[in-house]
Order: sequence, then structure tokens, then C-alpha cells
Amino acid sequence: MNSIPHLYVHVPFCPTICPYCDFHVLERRAGLVESYLAELEREAKQLVAKHGTFPLETIYIGGGTPSFLRDAELEQLVSIIRNNFGWASLEATLEVNPGTVTSARASHWFDLGFTRASVGVQSTQDDVLRFLGRTHNTKQALTALETLQSTGFAVSADLITAVPDQNLELDIHTLGRLGLTHISCYTLTIEEGTPFHKQGVKILEEAEAHALEITEPLLETYGLQRYEVSNHAKQGKESLHNTAYWQNKFFYGLGAGAAGHYPQITNNHQHTADIIAMRRTNPHLAPWLEGQRGTPETISRAEFITDGLFNGLRLRAGIDTSELSQRAGLNAQEHFAKAFQTCFERGWLEQNKDMIRCTKAGWWVLNKVVSVFLEQQ
Ligand SMILES: C[S@@+](CC[C@H](N)C(=O)[O-])C[C@H]1O[C@@H](n2cnc3c(N)ncnc32)[C@H](O)[C@@H]1O
Ligand code: SF4
Repeated sequence: MNSIPHLYVHVPFCPTICPYCDFHVLERRAGLVESYLAELEREAKQLVAKHGTFPLETIYIGGGTPSFLRDAELEQLVSIIRNNFGWASLEATLEVNPGTVTSARASHWFDLGFTRASVGVQSTQDDVLRFLGRTHNTKQALTALETLQSTGFAVSADLITAVPDQNLELDIHTLGRLGLTHISCYTLTIEEGTPFHKQGVKILEEAEAHALEITEPLLETYGLQRYEVSNHAKQGKESLHNTAYWQNKFFYGLGAGAAGHYPQITNNHQHTADIIAMRRTNPHLAPWLEGQRGTPETISRAEFITDGLFNGLRLRAGIDTSELSQRAGLNAQEHFAKAFQTCFERGWLEQNKDMIRCTKAGWWVLNKVVSVFLEQQ
């Protein structure tokens, strides 16, 4: 029950920084990747010393642009993981930028043990890609997807929607026709501090609404079902790693800015009966390279349930409240009886035995649903 079968590793380096990006990213400089990998190895050992190791089911190397690492660097990263945690039995995802793919590199990544590639396509229109400040063009993106598919990867593409002048129908048809088994669609968000924010780029409400309206039915015509707020997959091709997050499972977080979710260590003198888990988010690069780590935040039983609902209600299948209660050591339906009742009355939630999920209306106001539970926490 307290195993940690998932590992996320953050690689913050990118060839250039996109004007909309708010992730923890930076351009590489001489010696920086070397220092990064050395610190990653130190942190891997610390995590194992503190939490132990468990057979890993999934690994996700995200960023940033992990596929931007040179072959020898990625090999070193894979060795650090294998030597400290072992490898994933079910799924190992590498986040990939289209411009970094060649047939030789794709084979190398596959031979290293990666089974899934999550590719930042963003659009299949050159003018939209230029607007987004991407370094690849449509032809490169489509060639990259085909190369990865023919190498044997399960391939997922990220699309950004509601971009000014984007023809989203065209993007979806172009990707759908490639026979992709997984597509993630994210509405463009303009985050404070990004170049887009400073330039005053605005998202049109109509474009956002149009994207939300057409994405699900169009992707369904290619056999891709919406299984999570932003994610669509053919049956059996859902991301196991991300599903573990949405099911509130425990995972290690390795690297600068990476977040982890861990069971509470019971022999810790801070342990109280109400605290059952902790989360920890690492600081960004400079302090992390100096050995600083995130301060663990403790999670009470009730908070574990609200986190579980916040994540689980993102899934079309919803959340098994009996399993959540068992893991929390607190009966979710009893503890939050009033909040559940409010959400049922408002038509936001529906129940089938122990499974509780959002109705279509509830999915659109997920933040409001969760705030009803937070108020009662
Ligand atoms: C962590 S990013 C890294 C992926 C990869 N480096 C890339 O950009 O090709 C994962 C995805 O988040 C999405 N994303 C990043 N910033 C976004 C923003 N401001 N609005 C909407 N989607 C965004 C993009 O679709 C991107 O592919
Ligand atoms: S390549 Fe991806 S992670 Fe890097 S800056 Fe662009 S969007 Fe952000």
C-alpha cells in the first residue's frame, strides 16, 4: 500500500525558450548538464536512503526538453535511474521536441529502454508554430512522429489550442490521420512573467470555447476517447504514469523543480496519527545544485482525500471512493457527506456504487467542485 512505483525526473534544458512557457526551463551552458547529472545522482541516492526502493511501474522524463540531451548524457541519466531505482516494468516515457528526432536517435532512445514518446508538436501549421516561437516546422513534426512510431514507440502528441489564427480542425485531422494513439490538448495559457504576457497576447474567449467544443467529438472520429480533462487516447493507450498522478498514487520526484509524493515515514518523530503522506517540491536550479531540497509538506487524512478528489475527478472514470478511503484511513463519504450532497444536488457529481465522477457540467467547473470540499476540509 505504501509502495512508490512511479518516478518523475525533470530535465530543465531547452534549445530555446518558447515565449509562452512557464515551466522551470533554461538554455544549456557549458558544464551545466555535467553538474546537473552529478547532482541528480546524489539526489537519487538520498531519495533511496530515505524512502527505499520499490519495483517501478512507470518512469517519466520530462522538462524542459530531455530529448535535447546528447546521447552520452541521456545514457548517463538512464544509468543513474537503473543503478538507484531499477527500470519501469510497464511504461518509460521520454518527452521529445520534434527538432531533436532522427531515426538513429529514436533507435538509441528505444534501445535505452524508453517505450513511449510524448512529443511537443503544438500545431501542424507553420505560421502558428512561428507565432509560438517553436524551432521546428510542420514537416519536421510529422516526420518525427512517423519515425518514432516506426521505431516502436507508443507516441503521444501535445497540441496547444486557442492560439490566434489556428485552424484547430486541420491540426486534429492531420494528427488523427497519422494513427496516433494518444493526444493531449492544452488551451494556451498566458502566464505572468512570460514574453507573451509582457507583449499583451490575449486569448479570445470564442477561440477557447470553440476549441473545447470541437476537440472531443473530432478526436472521437479517430478512435481517441477523452479519458481526462486534457487527454485523449485509444482504448488501452492511456498514459499510465499520468494516470497514477490522477489516482493520487505515490511517486518519486527527482531533479530541480521536481515534485514528489511520498507515504509518511512512520518512525519519524514528527509523525502524528492524522498525517499520512508528504509532498516535496524541489527548488529551482541554482539552490538545487548546491544541495538544497524542498521542505516536506505534511498531508493529513482529510487533505489526502481532497487531493484524491481534485486529481481523480479529472478522470472520466472518476475515483473509487472506497479505495481512497482505505488509503486515507478515513471514510471519504462520511467525512465529506455535506460536500458530496451539495455537489450531487448541483448536478456536478454522479455515483455508481463506490465510483464517483464528474457529470459533463461538473467537469467544466472542476475548481468549483473541489472548493466545496476544501471548505469542509
Ligand atoms: C512540459 S512541456 C514540455 C514539452 C516539450 N519541451 C515541448 O515543448 O515540446 C509539456 C507541454 O505543455 C504544453 N504547454 C506548455 N506551456 C503551455 C502554455 N503556456 N499553454 C498551453 N500549453 C502549454 C505544451 O503542449 C507542451 O508540449
Ligand atoms: S521547448 Fe517545451 S519546455 Fe522548453 S521552453 Fe518550449 S514549451 Fe517550454
